[in-house]
Amino acid sequence: MSVAELTSAAERLKDQSLWQTKSYIDGEWVEGSASFAVTNPANNALLADVADVGAAGARQAVAAASRAFETWKKTSPFQRAALLMRWHQLILENVDDLAALITLEMGKAYREAQGEVVYGASFIEWSAEEAKRIHGETMATPFPGTRGWTTRQPIGVVACITPWNFPNAMITRKCAPALAAGCTMVIKPAPETPLSALALAVLAERAGIPKGVFNVICGDAEQLGPVMTEAPDVRMIGFTGSTAVGKLLMRQAADGVKRVALELGGNAPFIVMDDADPEVAADGIIASKYRVSGQTCVSANRIIAQPGIADALVAALQKRVDALKPGDGFDGSTDIGPLIHHEAVERVDALVKDARDSGATILAGGKPLTDELGGAFYAPTLIEGGNPSMDLACFEIFGPVASIYRAETEDEIIKLANDTPYGLAAYLYTNDVTRIHRMTEALEYGMIGVNAPMVGAASTPFGGVKESGIGREGGKWGVEEFTELRYVLLGGIE
Ligand code: SIN
Repeated sequence: MSVAELTSAAERLKDQSLWQTKSYIDGEWVEGSASFAVTNPANNALLADVADVGAAGARQAVAAASRAFETWKKTSPFQRAALLMRWHQLILENVDDLAALITLEMGKAYREAQGEVVYGASFIEWSAEEAKRIHGETMATPFPGTRGWTTRQPIGVVACITPWNFPNAMITRKCAPALAAGCTMVIKPAPETPLSALALAVLAERAGIPKGVFNVICGDAEQLGPVMTEAPDVRMIGFTGSTAVGKLLMRQAADGVKRVALELGGNAPFIVMDDADPEVAADGIIASKYRVSGQTCVSANRIIAQPGIADALVAALQKRVDALKPGDGFDGSTDIGPLIHHEAVERVDALVKDARDSGATILAGGKPLTDELGGAFYAPTLIEGGNPSMDLACFEIFGPVASIYRAETEDEIIKLANDTPYGLAAYLYTNDVTRIHRMTEALEYGMIGVNAPMVGAASTPFGGVKESGIGREGGKWGVEEFTELRYVLLGGIE
């Protein structure tokens, strides 16, 4: 890869200063003793060599966050809110550049990337407003001459490991409420997407967020991770990613009895009942399943349709899936970008092959497009039938593959939907209000979209049950996660 090609990727940005390859620690841009490559999955081109700061950099960042916590926790919530609002404004002023970084690093269609930046900024705005509403309570006590009250204290230094599928919004969804509550942060972004994280640090600095409050460290997870989980000053670990890594972090955090907030894998059922409109349900499935090429934790993983609607639903879906255009995210006509890398293509293809071997019918796609399109592409795929215990139905697909199963009664559907260790998001399409009550109560999921294919928002609680995670991001719940409840009893009043 020539220097000229590297430069041309950076030149997509209107503001070149957003292109950073060093870590941001204690308000300084820090070189590493090694580096790692970041590539564009749409064409395999090298984008940047990013500094790897190693365990030493992670220790430096934790120490900086720890020092900064002493002053940041004492700043007025109004002051924190004002700084966050300035960061929010700067992000909105730089939507196009931040979106370009996302598309370059992980491939999603540019308009989806722009949507992500606005979505990400909304968490900062919400949290800035919420900073002023972190309240305690007073309470009756049984002891004469006393008064009792609670306050909400910031938990301390928070270390977060963030994913590549939303390289901007999954950082702001964690950082904004944490900073609003008075915590300081160390972020370790996914190695595939450090540039988006570092650009957010540029804007945080420009917004005036004091040094040490927001640190971004890049490098090898095996070096950086243990520093974050073992440092006594780190009081909370936040993570979005796979259930396997979430369990590992939880075990590591247990020694220091650190709080964990984990947003892990899913296996979302998308249930379509006989009384639903098949065209509306098909639109919902396209939005849920093919967003970010199926690489979201809340993607519909198993479409479960009642027999009375299944044929019409399959026909409506087939029409839509055939029309989806895969391609480079910067091409305005692209609906579906590449997967994150070639191993992901191989993994998705293995799931599809296993489904075919289990008797499923491939109605559309069903193959890699790496040769045709020159990057980590997989054809938008529609599959029907097969066995609900095959890999495609049991594992998170994380690719543009929709698979449809048929089930007759409400009981059968609920049993099938809940037959998974995951419990993040579920979707239910029906127009029967009694059914909505019965079924939403029976589904073991943290979030349920009823006639709605997308559930995440700055004001709502995002998170799962069972092996899909612990804690909630978003809304007042997202801010509370970063606080400790403190109780005070004052005696000697009378
Ligand atoms: C995720 O996939 O983790 C986030 C999806 C969303 O916020 O909608």
